[in-house]
Amino acid sequence: MSAPLSNFGVARDATGAVTMEQVSLASVAEQFGTPCFVYSEAALGDAYRKLDAALKAARNGRPYLICYAVKANSNLAVLNLFARMGAGFDIVSGGELKRVLMAGGDAGKVVFSGLGKTAAEMKLALEADIKCFNIESEPELDRLNSVAASMGKRARVSLRVNPDVDAKTHPYISTGLKNNKFGVAFDRALAVYRKAASLANIEVSGVDCHIGSQLVDDTPLREAMSRIVALADALAAEGIPVHHICPGGGIGIVYRNEQTIEIGAYARALQDCLGDRHVELLLEPGRMLVGNAGVLLTRVEYVKPTETKNFLVVDAAMNDLIRPPLYQAYHEVVAVQPGASAQQTYDIVGPICESTDVLAQGRQLSAGEGDLIAILSAGAYSFVMASNYNTRPRAAEVMVSGSSMRSVRKRETFDDVVAGENI
Ligand code: LLP
Repeated sequence: MSAPLSNFGVARDATGAVTMEQVSLASVAEQFGTPCFVYSEAALGDAYRKLDAALKAARNGRPYLICYAVKANSNLAVLNLFARMGAGFDIVSGGELKRVLMAGGDAGKVVFSGLGKTAAEMKLALEADIKCFNIESEPELDRLNSVAASMGKRARVSLRVNPDVDAKTHPYISTGLKNNKFGVAFDRALAVYRKAASLANIEVSGVDCHIGSQLVDDTPLREAMSRIVALADALAAEGIPVHHICPGGGIGIVYRNEQTIEIGAYARALQDCLGDRHVELLLEPGRMLVGNAGVLLTRVEYVKPTETKNFLVVDAAMNDLIRPPLYQAYHEVVAVQPGASAQQTYDIVGPICESTDVLAQGRQLSAGEGDLIAILSAGAYSFVMASNYNTRPRAAEVMVSGSSMRSVRKRETFDDVVAGENI
């Protein structure tokens, strides 16, 4: 381990066993089986409170709203926790809106991102009276105007502008460059805002951007923020004032030993950009609120030494956690119980019939058949990206709180997987 376990929402107790809050991960496996995602309510709450405190201090009485990016982890229990803490939500589908409402979220604090909103999704969101639509193209603006007109409503909008800054993250999760499919080109933004302001069923409400995810340096975020604040000033000068400004999400977490963004300094930098402008500051954080609050618990099925490598074949696979194969992502891995087995270097692989089904490579572990392994930092973009590939039922999700644990999603069964299929 290159960083203390506690950074990842887990710890080792005096006997060497890995615990989350006051619950041993071995007891979670015993009760709920493996593979299993385990989340810490305290770690989720702490992450939210830390961001909230930083924004509160930086804004010093001026308005702000944390709109949690639901896509990172959309379990109802997670959404309910953040809703109770006062969060807003950033959604990207009608389904996510329904989840937020089911979980007790406030539609008045919902922003709707995404570049392919259907008319039905727009209607659903207008019925719920969400705070704002983040619009990504002129055709989308036209469609929203006509959907709102058909309902006799006005839709509040931000344009998600593409500030053309390089987020310097993995290309698959970088979104703010000109050649990305996202957003309205910065050079076009004024013209599209003028058009938006002229539409009868549209009300201009904000300026938005999002340049990428897992950013460990906030320089590109600050650059993007100063560009969108300048755009807001240009709009105000034209008589199109905005009520909120949002630099999106993207704040990186520690997966290994990254020096990532210091949240207090980032909040102050955003405030420096905004000065005394009478606007609300919105953020759309996903990963930073949930990423380090979850682990994927899995059991070793086989130890498989080969001529060149030793493999640990575990019962979790790329259908449960696709981040390593898809983004070459690194997740720390720990043995859950102090084992009798000798330390060895292993590749940790799943049972799926693909060479890419590798969850971690070259890790020093003491683990044998039947032992439990925890893959850390699996709270964000993990269960939500799971599939049924190889007819593998999706894993259970468990919430730990203090000394208690509860199921927040039961393990799928084979019947769940084939439900809806016909011959
Ligand atoms: N706002 C918008 C418009 C977004 O597209 C995203 C993430 C966020 C906010 C939240 O970003 P965050 O704070 O979580 O970085 N599956 C990838 C990450 C995809 C991110 C997509 N957009 C991964 O596992 O790394």
